[in-house]
Amino acid sequence: MIWNTKITQMMNITYPLIMGAFGGWGKAEFASHFSNAGGLGIIAALNFPDPEDFKKDLKLMKDLTSKPFGVNLSLPHHKASDKSSRKEMEKRYLTYVEIALNEGCNIFTTSGYKAKFIGDRVHEADAYWIHKCVLLKHAISSEGQGADAITIVGLEGTGFKNPFTTTTLVNITMAKKLLQIPVIAAGGIGDARGFLAAIMMGAEGVCLGTALMATEECPVPQKFKEKWLNLDIFDKDFYKTIYHYNTKNFMAPSTAIGHHHKILTVKELIDQIISQAENILECWGFQNERFSTLEDPSN
Ligand SMILES: Cc1cc2nc3c(=O)[nH]c(=O)nc-3n(C[C@H](O)[C@H](O)[C@H](O)COP(=O)(O)O)c2cc1C
Repeated sequence: MIWNTKITQMMNITYPLIMGAFGGWGKAEFASHFSNAGGLGIIAALNFPDPEDFKKDLKLMKDLTSKPFGVNLSLPHHKASDKSSRKEMEKRYLTYVEIALNEGCNIFTTSGYKAKFIGDRVHEADAYWIHKCVLLKHAISSEGQGADAITIVGLEGTGFKNPFTTTTLVNITMAKKLLQIPVIAAGGIGDARGFLAAIMMGAEGVCLGTALMATEECPVPQKFKEKWLNLDIFDKDFYKTIYHYNTKNFMAPSTAIGHHHKILTVKELIDQIISQAENILECWGFQNERFSTLEDPSN
């Protein structure tokens, strides 16, 4: 089946799947597998304190895949203490942006705090800026600042939270009504039904974070992957690491891990999500060879 959404079109990818930004792990060796499997692999620029190493990793990415990929810049979650430290920070981030543009990257994801200064530079170079946030009000203000798409992370997801974060279902259905630009769903999605549901709720793409943590190519020792695969997502301590703001563990897997029982390659995982989604659509009576959100009259 051909998958056609505003996000597959914007990013020139086969499936509407975007790799989460991974502090520590989002490097070419891992991200290239996601791009090769038909989604958008993401290199997290800040994994490279030395910009020269970032440049080398982008070159490696281009050796490992001929498919599109993106670069993430995660901003600090707070205001810089004064104007000059803000300027310093912006200068540093823009160095990474220039390197990525020079290496031909045309998709930039940002997350954390205000990233308009990155979006503006990226747009000057005719590239795309996708901002990730957890609150609808931030999504609306990022659209106002020119973002080309928004990723919204629901309460089910791992990573940064706000005390007022709402669920993926609320985020996506409301965002579809309140935003004009395409929305990417994130948070707790780890299987074909979650993927399809997000698209049905109005997302034009789905971002996978936790679902990739136990893949073969994820650069952590096997013993951690096995531990994660055996997690009881209904355990009350697990619950606290995901849902309680004050006891949250930013790097803990989300409930998406509950869908996984063995270590798969990234390609196997993506193929499984897509083929099961296609089977479900067929069971529902969908007979087209092309799945497209583009004809949705509310688009
Ligand atoms: C180990 C790990 C590291 C992460 N690092 C970052 C990061 O540096 N920047 C960021 O924006 N998000 C980061 N995230 C969040 C993901 O990009 C994504 O938003 C989140 O995992 C989506 O929810 P899910 O895990 O339920 O799929 C990280 C997630 C994990 C699991």
